[in-house]
Amino acid sequence: MCSIIGYSGNEIAAPIIVKGLKRMEYRGYDSVGVATESQNQIELKKGTGKVTEVNSKFQLDTLPGKIGIGHTRWATHGKVTDLNAHPHPSNSGKIAIVHNGIIENFEELKKKLEDDGYSFKSETDSEIIANLLQKNYESTKNVKDTIMKTVSEIKGHYAFVAMFENGQLAAARFHEPLIIGVGQENIFLSSDVLGFIEYTDDAIYMKSGNFIILKNREFQILDFNGKEIKHEITKVSKEFGDAYKGDYAHFTLKEIYEQPELISKAGDRTINGLEEAVEYIKNAKNIYVTGSGTSYNSALIAKQILSKYVKIKSEPIIASELQFAPETIEENSVLIAISQSGESADVLEAVRIAKKSNCKIISIVNLLTSSLTRKGDVVLGMNCGPEIGVAATKSFTAQLIVLYKIVQKLNGNITINFEEFSESISKILENPVKIQEIAKELKEVSDVYILGRGINYPIAIESALKLKELTYIHAEGIPGGELKHGPLALMDTDVFVIVINPNDSTYTDTLTSAREIKARGAKIIGVSDIESDIYDYWIKIPKINEILYPISEIIPIQLLTYYSALEKDTDPDYPRNLAKSVTVK
Ligand code: F6R
Repeated sequence: MCSIIGYSGNEIAAPIIVKGLKRMEYRGYDSVGVATESQNQIELKKGTGKVTEVNSKFQLDTLPGKIGIGHTRWATHGKVTDLNAHPHPSNSGKIAIVHNGIIENFEELKKKLEDDGYSFKSETDSEIIANLLQKNYESTKNVKDTIMKTVSEIKGHYAFVAMFENGQLAAARFHEPLIIGVGQENIFLSSDVLGFIEYTDDAIYMKSGNFIILKNREFQILDFNGKEIKHEITKVSKEFGDAYKGDYAHFTLKEIYEQPELISKAGDRTINGLEEAVEYIKNAKNIYVTGSGTSYNSALIAKQILSKYVKIKSEPIIASELQFAPETIEENSVLIAISQSGESADVLEAVRIAKKSNCKIISIVNLLTSSLTRKGDVVLGMNCGPEIGVAATKSFTAQLIVLYKIVQKLNGNITINFEEFSESISKILENPVKIQEIAKELKEVSDVYILGRGINYPIAIESALKLKELTYIHAEGIPGGELKHGPLALMDTDVFVIVINPNDSTYTDTLTSAREIKARGAKIIGVSDIESDIYDYWIKIPKINEILYPISEIIPIQLLTYYSALEKDTDPDYPRNLAKSVTVK
């Protein structure tokens, strides 16, 4: 999703802004821009492409002045073009803005502004904000009233930073993230702590419905009615600044390799604790588990382990679907909301719906400073450190570990030796040569199917998601028993099938499915702790407590998709069209 940044301080702004944008690259984007103010003049440069490319083409970091704004755009309204990139100047050029989110009533506002003589250069909804600010500034003559009037006119979810030609900055937040970094010599306004963590670890998490006015280092935070708000400075965990690849070629690879270590830590940082989560679950009328993408796949596993190991029924819900069936949620139930970022708009909407029905919220979240954290009655931290690669890898494992810890607390008879498990996971990662060879075979393949039964079916779907994201290969997860009900028609010599086949109750049936597929000429990659000559390629996983199979299956598949991405020359860290944190619905 778009990242916004504003800077006001004692140093030249542009290079600091470019660095901040670079650190927020993981959020996903397609174009970049910076504007600065110097001697009451706003200068602006922007273009499509990666931060480094756009910077070497336009020298964004040579813009003058100690005040500036920057942006990486993830296209929603309008194509990926230089003109649609942010910042957007107002018609007079005296104000420039960067924006993250969606202005829902932009067509109506655009029409009104056009009637007033304003013209628009881009196809974006964001340019409305620049011109609306100009119009309101011309009538109110002060920044505070201008922002209040502007936010009362725009509808939607947004965070924006506006720069005025007198060097004043203002930023407003409404349901999109905006954090103030408070340094000794400088102030930052950013979508993400990574925008400023190199300079300061003191942050103010702005509330939705608040805005800030900033001149030099002096600032005031107000609500949309103009009432001044007291603020609290929070120390940002330095760990979130530790977002370097180190010796790894990509963040994704580094994050895959961090998994053995996170196993002991996941779920250890909590707000209100595991005990309270367990009490809510025991006393709930119903249990719902929600998430998007990979986090939803964790919800599918939650259902299976809650029913199998603690005889508790739960309903997984795709977060984006709940708004179309809010009546699904019964009063006085519990919603377990899973989200790495804690900022996925769909998940936050599901939480809003559940809260309306008086449900307790158990948030399983990585970013403990996120919106989902604030909305949880209990918060269980994934505690897996920053995940920069756009595709979720280590956060999936951390989510599952947190769920296992819940199950263990609910049923004292279940013992999981996490230390031993961590060692067996390390062994999978020790020697990737075989996986690298299989990745070469996938280079020219256009369709991959992944088969799994029971608890292994969510892993089939998660594997398909990873393949789609990282390699752009068409991939589909299939419940093994459904093969004969349709998908078998697709099997021929051109396709590869990954068969997830651990030594659990699904083993024999899945091996039979593999045989049926092989008879149609497809190539089989078996992911199993038991070797079989049915597999053309065997990815060996350790023999372990069967509750842990999902993690030991997904890790080699994450590696396989990573190496396949390298074979196909796609960027594993930043897949096309995707954003790390999907803050719009
Ligand atoms: C898949 C992926 C996405 C996210 C989804 C939810 O690799 O990264 O599907 O899982 O956008 O994100 P969070 O967990 O931040 O809510």
